[in-house]
Amino acid sequence: MPLNLILMGPPGAGKGTQAHRLAQRLHVPAISTGDMLRDEGKQGSALGRDAKHYMDRGALVPDALIISIIEARLQREDCSHGFILDGFPRTVVQAEALDRALHRLGWSLHRVGSLTVPTDEVVRRLSGRRTCRDCSTPYHVALDPPAKRDTCDICGGTLQQRADDHESVITARLEVYARDTAPLLDFYRRRGLLAEIDGLGKHDDVLASLLAHLTVVNGDRPAAAS
Ligand code: AP5
Repeated sequence: MPLNLILMGPPGAGKGTQAHRLAQRLHVPAISTGDMLRDEGKQGSALGRDAKHYMDRGALVPDALIISIIEARLQREDCSHGFILDGFPRTVVQAEALDRALHRLGWSLHRVGSLTVPTDEVVRRLSGRRTCRDCSTPYHVALDPPAKRDTCDICGGTLQQRADDHESVITARLEVYARDTAPLLDFYRRRGLLAEIDGLGKHDDVLASLLAHLTVVNGDRPAAAS
């Protein structure tokens, strides 16, 4: 049985870090809308240039744009065995569009995990984050450094600081999360899909909590998760 999951949480909660780990464990793709938009920016596409305008000031890109990207991504073959969405949906409009897209594909959403982390900790994490330019793996200069300075452990790519990880933009991103995205917690709680998970602690401990809460669907553990 495929496992269709969403990972939520404020900026810096550890969504990207854990989405990569969950994807390896569950053998499904981790789909980050932030990474997809940054890749478009690296390729110099019109979409990437448009999106950068919003991302650099911590605003959300328009719903219509991001919805069309996700609709196309879900139709790729690797999603037929499940997926982990990281950073989508971020508004009620996006969540409703996701419902419609899944319905058209004959799929449903199984669980939504929300990582909870206090604001002072997310600010500390974001201000020290460095991200691989090639594979997007996140590190932290103090909390999670790579073995070799400024070099990705996984692919050897160069680590860099994201343009939106500067303090003034971090504040704007947290405000946008509280205003536009946090209401989705109730949206999914009402449907019995939400699991709130403590995002503090060692990577392996957070991963174990996520696996425990997200891989049991209607009392069953799908094959991908066993
Ligand atoms: P996006 O890239 O999705 O950014 P975000 O949601 O703000 O989340 P982050 O990537 O900053 O944090 P994270 O939770 O993934 O944390 P991470 O694992 O890296 O979006 C960027 C922008 O794109 C948006 O602002 C918007 O403009 C646009 N966008 C994207 N999706 C959109 C959508 N659907 N609609 C509209 N616009 C959209 O960890 C952070 C740091 O903490 C790292 O350094 C890591 O090493 C460290 N860390 C992680 N876990 C731990 C731990 N347990 N203990 C200690 N340190 C840890």
